Amino acid sequence: MKKYQILWAILIIFGICLLLKCVTPSKPQPSDDGVKAAYEKKDFPDFGAMIPVDQFLANYPNHKIFKLSQDYPKALPGADKIPAFFKIPFDDKSKWMDWLLAARDYCFEGMIDANFIAQDNKKRDWYHMPWLHYGPLASEGFSGLAKEAPISPYQLAPEQKHPGQVYALGFYNDFAGHILYKMWNASTDPDPFITQGPKGGFPEGTVIFKFLYTELDSTDVHYLKNPYTRLAYITPTFKDSTNRIVKTVNLIQMDIMVRDKRAEKYGTGWIFGNLCYNGNLNKGKTMKDRVMNLVPVGIQFGNDPGYKTNWINPYPVVKTMINDTLKETFINTSADLPPQHLGWGGRLDGPVDLNTASCMSCHQTGEYPQFAALVPNEAFIGDTLPNGSMKYLTQTNAPAWIKYYQNFKCGTAYDPKKALSTDFSLQVSLALTYYWQWKSVTMGGHYSQLYAGVEHLALRGGMPFKMMKILKKSGKKLKAGALPKDHSSF
Ligand code: HEC
Repeated sequence: MKKYQILWAILIIFGICLLLKCVTPSKPQPSDDGVKAAYEKKDFPDFGAMIPVDQFLANYPNHKIFKLSQDYPKALPGADKIPAFFKIPFDDKSKWMDWLLAARDYCFEGMIDANFIAQDNKKRDWYHMPWLHYGPLASEGFSGLAKEAPISPYQLAPEQKHPGQVYALGFYNDFAGHILYKMWNASTDPDPFITQGPKGGFPEGTVIFKFLYTELDSTDVHYLKNPYTRLAYITPTFKDSTNRIVKTVNLIQMDIMVRDKRAEKYGTGWIFGNLCYNGNLNKGKTMKDRVMNLVPVGIQFGNDPGYKTNWINPYPVVKTMINDTLKETFINTSADLPPQHLGWGGRLDGPVDLNTASCMSCHQTGEYPQFAALVPNEAFIGDTLPNGSMKYLTQTNAPAWIKYYQNFKCGTAYDPKKALSTDFSLQVSLALTYYWQWKSVTMGGHYSQLYAGVEHLALRGGMPFKMMKILKKSGKKLKAGALPKDHSSF
């Protein structure tokens, strides 16, 4: 063959190869994103409670399995990454709503498109708390929801005849995620000093939010019409801690916690925000958009320790009683907001929370080990209505109650001589508790630091049902405080 014939032959073969490569679909490579994501390095289980694999594949072929977002950032984001809403004056009565809506929008950015699956968010990284897979309140595999609290009959609405329960999932932004990295990254035990002040604690820029769901629906709670739903593997009732069933749950509440230096002058350093679902507004054309039915309830940046008047809004609630004398809680006056019971004396609390507590008083108890009760016993002692709900507390002069409504600085333990602060994070407190429970079981022994005092599990409902009933029955002891003179004028 002549030289130029060989050259032609090579060129033709090369051309054919090129053509074939274009028309044959390329096989998935081991480095494809999907495969990578499935086998990413993981230190922590994604969830604790789930149906068997074969049932999941056969019955829920299109349902994504929940994945814990645990690729925590190794570096703290720069100050330039602090969200823009940190400039809105949250403590100005005419601006707080702008602040809360901007905080909500920050949490929603990229999340609505991702249907609140953290890893699918293309705009912003969010992370989940590890270790909530452990124990009877274990997170589940459909949506990552951990069991949280009971709901009493009439707590949410006058027509609510049935009790219910709360399941929830929290999201931590990159500032908060870095703290999770520092606490949990070690191949050894988690480091509880990471959230202890003055050196440790969540940094300025921290935003944490949580979606709370209930199995109750619009037959019990009218504002759960047009619900934003998820599938979850939950206990049939709150009291049952062994069985689980697959059930649709409905979004009822959104909680936000923001670490903002400007709130330090109130003695705390944190701002709490709350929104309640109202499906009667019927916002959002698709299921994903229905989160826009969340209506601001209010914000709280302190416990108003100076306001001591003793009153609560008993269940069922027909009207939100807005206490304008509070300086560290602001409440939404809009008719879009379903009637709220709020917390003690009208301080901020969400629909699924107790009307005797408040966001901040409960969260400031966060410590490890958790010696403080999340809700003091005094919250369950007093006069009750015939329907069983608390009407009036009779022990609000007790030292434990007065302490509960003081302001604690971020990063300060509630029991500073015995415990370290989890910096108002009760998921950190839970996660550390679970870790040490697991380690005790695994090692077949106990650790001495757990003998420094009686521990309370961080239960949002305050305490187990049985205990609550015993306390409720213990009835009147002292009369404390007095009803506001004009209780009816709210
Ligand atoms: C009686 C106690 C109690 C009250 C009141 C309470 N919470 Fe919580 N909260 C908890 C517990 C316990 C957890 C951890 C368990 C969980 O998230 O499932 C938690 C978790 C959270 C989280 C996730 C972050 C973290 O690490 O703790 C946020 C955000 C939050 N709550 C905000 C709020 C807001 C806002 C309010 C008021 C509307 C509120 N909470 C009222 C007990 C309470």
